[in-house]
Amino acid sequence: MSMGNGARGARLPGHAQRILATYDVVAAALVGREEQLQSVLAVLAAGRNLLLEGPPGTGKSTLLRAVADHSALSLSFVEGNAEMTPQKMIGYHDPSAVLAHGYRDEDFVMGPLPRAMHDGGLLYVEEFNRLPEDTLNTLLTAMAERELHIPRYGLVTAKDTFRIVAAMNPFDNVGTTRVSASVYDRLCRMVVDYQSEAEELEIVGLRAEPDVNDVLTLAVRVVRESRTHPQVRFGSSVRGAIDFVTVEKSLRQLTGAEPLSRSHLDKVGELALSSKIAVDEVWNRRAEDVIRQLIHSTAAALGLRLL
Ligand SMILES: Nc1ncnc2c1ncn2[C@@H]1O[C@H](COP(=O)(O)OP(=O)(O)OP(=O)(O)O)[C@@H](O)[C@H]1O
Ligand SMILES: [Mg+2]
Repeated sequence: MSMGNGARGARLPGHAQRILATYDVVAAALVGREEQLQSVLAVLAAGRNLLLEGPPGTGKSTLLRAVADHSALSLSFVEGNAEMTPQKMIGYHDPSAVLAHGYRDEDFVMGPLPRAMHDGGLLYVEEFNRLPEDTLNTLLTAMAERELHIPRYGLVTAKDTFRIVAAMNPFDNVGTTRVSASVYDRLCRMVVDYQSEAEELEIVGLRAEPDVNDVLTLAVRVVRESRTHPQVRFGSSVRGAIDFVTVEKSLRQLTGAEPLSRSHLDKVGELALSSKIAVDEVWNRRAEDVIRQLIHSTAAALGLRLL
């Protein structure tokens, strides 16, 4: 029996084909991440909902935004936190309109969940594990039944392409609820980790347009070292390196500093990185001091002479 591409593709519905067909153009918009992109597209085309688990700044939103853009699906972002009640997720009747006219459909302010169901879009829920329990249950019901009954409004039915993509940081355990087995059981899960040094250099090269190669090299290496530094609880993502290079350029323009001047780089490190690392309390050190030392030792390891 032939298992050529045509025969295999023919079994998938049109909307699934359209999602899979975005692969080339989305892959071209991202640095690396081919395997993760294939996984995301496969899960979405299979009609499943997805949980992305990984530290901040690992390209989860970038990847999903590119998929949505190129498959002409709407993408709405919801931030999971204690204030994201079921009412906020679903929507509400405008109280003053209700007083004036009673409950009318046109006065219903639709929340992100029914909106995404109605449009057949992607609902991206960041910090999924920070959602209150009852909001999580609302999402689970919508995923399972693909319809949502809204009191005094009616039934919202999900279009074929409606999906929920949840994201969470596995190391984030303050103010979070443990995601239960029954939730995991209803989602596909993909782990996203930091990219290679070569890929991070390319990302920072794209986002920060560096003009001094040594600064780029230093920024990426410092950020990577911060993730395994023995005194640091969690280090910086590639965002730190993007900020480092960008702030270095603008500060240099203002002060006329030499790019590899020690005091200049110390300042840049404090500005760009000290908010992005968490020093383990037992060491009783300030983040800017750890960063400064890391810049000096990394520069030495790279053979860069600071002035
Ligand atoms: N593979 C990649 N290709 C191109 N740019 C990337 C890639 N990964 C990350 N970036 C860039 O790095 C920054 C952080 O990425 P992004 O916001 O997508 O991370 P995230 O995983 O959604 O983070 P968070 O968990 O904090 O929401 C963005 O400026 C993005 O453009
Ligand atoms: Mg994000």
